[in-house]
Amino acid sequence: MSNKLNICFFGTGYVGLVSGTCFAKLGHYVTCADTDSEKISQLKLKKIPIYEPELTELVEQNFDSGRLKFAINSEIDLREFDIAVIAVGTPNKQDGSTNLTFVDEVVKFIKKQKHKNLTVMVKSTVPLGTCRIIYDELNKNSQYKIDVVSNPEFLREGNAVKDFLKPERIILGYFEKETKRKLGNLYQPFNKICKNIIHTDCQTSELIKYASNAFLSTKVAFINEIANICEKIDADINMIAYGMGLDSRIGSKFLNPGPGFGGSCFPKDIQALNKITDKLNTNNKLIAAVEISNNQWKLAVSKKILNYLQKIGSKKLTIWGVTYKANTDDIRSSPVIDIIKFLLAKNIIINCYDPMGLQSLKTIFGKEINYYSNIYASTQGSDLIVIATEWSEFKEVNFSKLKKGSKTIFDLRNILNDKAAKKAGFTIYKLGKKDKL
Ligand code: UGA
Repeated sequence: MSNKLNICFFGTGYVGLVSGTCFAKLGHYVTCADTDSEKISQLKLKKIPIYEPELTELVEQNFDSGRLKFAINSEIDLREFDIAVIAVGTPNKQDGSTNLTFVDEVVKFIKKQKHKNLTVMVKSTVPLGTCRIIYDELNKNSQYKIDVVSNPEFLREGNAVKDFLKPERIILGYFEKETKRKLGNLYQPFNKICKNIIHTDCQTSELIKYASNAFLSTKVAFINEIANICEKIDADINMIAYGMGLDSRIGSKFLNPGPGFGGSCFPKDIQALNKITDKLNTNNKLIAAVEISNNQWKLAVSKKILNYLQKIGSKKLTIWGVTYKANTDDIRSSPVIDIIKFLLAKNIIINCYDPMGLQSLKTIFGKEINYYSNIYASTQGSDLIVIATEWSEFKEVNFSKLKKGSKTIFDLRNILNDKAAKKAGFTIYKLGKKDKL
């Protein structure tokens, strides 16, 4: 077998599109498939549906070289492929448990077309035991074995291409020993780049993904709770995070206070893990508390903003940054959505500016709020500026150009250079700092 494989990705969201494109860059032959024909037509024109640094260039290069193709599911003939990757969305149901409808549809499709040399790889985040269910389903009444591999992704939006090409670890869970050889070919280009290629069983691999996201969200919720204490006692959260992070057992990453964690992964995965532990009856307390803590914190931050506006007798503010973090256009579960809902219910007039996220925000709030494509115009007539994401544009803002609007800024990411802002006559409030809003 050549060490270059033919891979079919089902699902062209963040995970499917980024990892499919990167596998093509590494020399494999990749087809990214989706049921959304409009999306596939756009991708064939090299139009990328998401904002992700470096992705557009990589898609262009690999599409032009013929190593990356796009197709709708019905055009796929799995006899042409060595590996079928499931990379579809796994949203949560109303009750927080995982909706596996899209995964099930792909499994049905694969089952119809499976062949002896096919391996199925699951990159979607799925509840514990899902790979086993897929394995049993694909091998029911079959003369040969189709192996199922759990290979979770640890990509961060905004950094996804870099994360894929320089991974800190690659996790591979599978059932059949012989699969190791094929996975060796698939990940061969990483042998020199990544020291930690871990081979394990599927349930362990599935839980590594949930445990990682749960741990990171715990870190964020934890530092936000410490920020809350800081405000009560006049301590400095940034210095505390720095002091804590110097201990290599703790580490300095993911200790930045903010308005609460959001995105398409942390809130969803914490909820799903809670559902899983409920089912297992393991009586876990910490994971449930993280979700509660994050919700409480978003509300506390919203109340701080409202209290300030009430104190100065104003009803108008400007929010800079609406995505759940910087360097993405994604507003899914952005804490800003909760903040805006809270303030709208109190009849506050809201202006918003964001370099990438306003189009999506419009689909939620329509005419209820005002949208500005210019950061300087966005503050006119408002009495408070709230910085909700850490876009570098906000750090570099020219304060002397912010003439007509508010002279007060609530920096929810603690990113501003206070000296420049104060020199221009601004009052800055930060999270977990002495001067409270
Ligand atoms: C997260 C994980 O970091 C990835 O490893 C994982 O692959 C991905 O979920 C996923 O499961 O697909 P992502 O959702 O892109 O990635 O976002 P993060 O950069 O992890 O940030 C999550 C949230 O935590 C954001 O709202 C961010 O603003 C917040 N955060 C993060 C903080 O408030 N403070 C920090 O110090 C770090």
